[in-house]
Amino acid sequence: MRQISSISELRDQLRGQNRVAFVPTMGNLHEGHMSLMRIAAKHGDPVVASVFVNRLQFGPNEDFDKYPRTMQEDAEKLEKEQVYVMFAPTERDLYPEPQDYRVKPPDDLGGTLEGEFRPGFFEGVSTVVTKLFNCVQPKVAVFGKKDYQQLMIIRRLVAQLAMPIEIIAAPTVRAEDGLALSSRNRYLNEQDRAEAPFLYQLLNDLSNRVKSGRPNLDQLVQLERICADTLANRGWKPDYFEVRRQADLQRPTDENLSDQTPLVILAAAKLGQTRLIDNLEID
Ligand code: PAF
Repeated sequence: MRQISSISELRDQLRGQNRVAFVPTMGNLHEGHMSLMRIAAKHGDPVVASVFVNRLQFGPNEDFDKYPRTMQEDAEKLEKEQVYVMFAPTERDLYPEPQDYRVKPPDDLGGTLEGEFRPGFFEGVSTVVTKLFNCVQPKVAVFGKKDYQQLMIIRRLVAQLAMPIEIIAAPTVRAEDGLALSSRNRYLNEQDRAEAPFLYQLLNDLSNRVKSGRPNLDQLVQLERICADTLANRGWKPDYFEVRRQADLQRPTDENLSDQTPLVILAAAKLGQTRLIDNLEID
């Protein structure tokens, strides 16, 4: 595997490759990322992974400085998955000048849910992903469903800016107790780690109630509130616990709820010092 930090060296290395499969990451790789690499290998060849902690997508009070950086371990893991290139630009490589051009998603998609609680987050993600796509020029790129809203935003970005890239959605990888794998799980202390799978349990409970009870919109709002209150009563600080339409992440109407429009439940809550997000499609 080649480890490359400069954009021109990356371009030289990938010249003539016309079916590159790309997995962008911020490093601190875990089994969830490894599954993305395997999915990428099924859709293209060679596989290129990027490791870059993108300052633009962190808010002023977020964990940019303490975000885990584990470059050596990441390289070893990628090597084992037969990744062809690990593209690990420094800030100076990727942002040689302050990045004052930005890619801003529309408010209906980028300003809601995560966007409401993390202003600027999706602008930072969309900007860096556009830039990484321009560097790697992949045919396909793989994004995890764990970051459901991010996946939807990247899909819309690629469609709207006519980028010739197929976006593949990868299923969320979970620990045995249901907790979605995330680099931020390492911030959980022992007690919080034991509590953390409750978020997924609650997503399943709500999903089952929606499937069996066919609530109307008012009833759904009540059910969502009960979920958020349940979390709060157990010591979590919920940001949102909401059912949205899978296609555009907007609130479902009464009609959508009765005509089986595909829905997804999205949740974010803080447990101790750690903010967890998760989601579940209601099929
Ligand atoms: O999902 C992530 O790890 C990041 O948001 C991404 C897509 C690598 C952009 O920095």
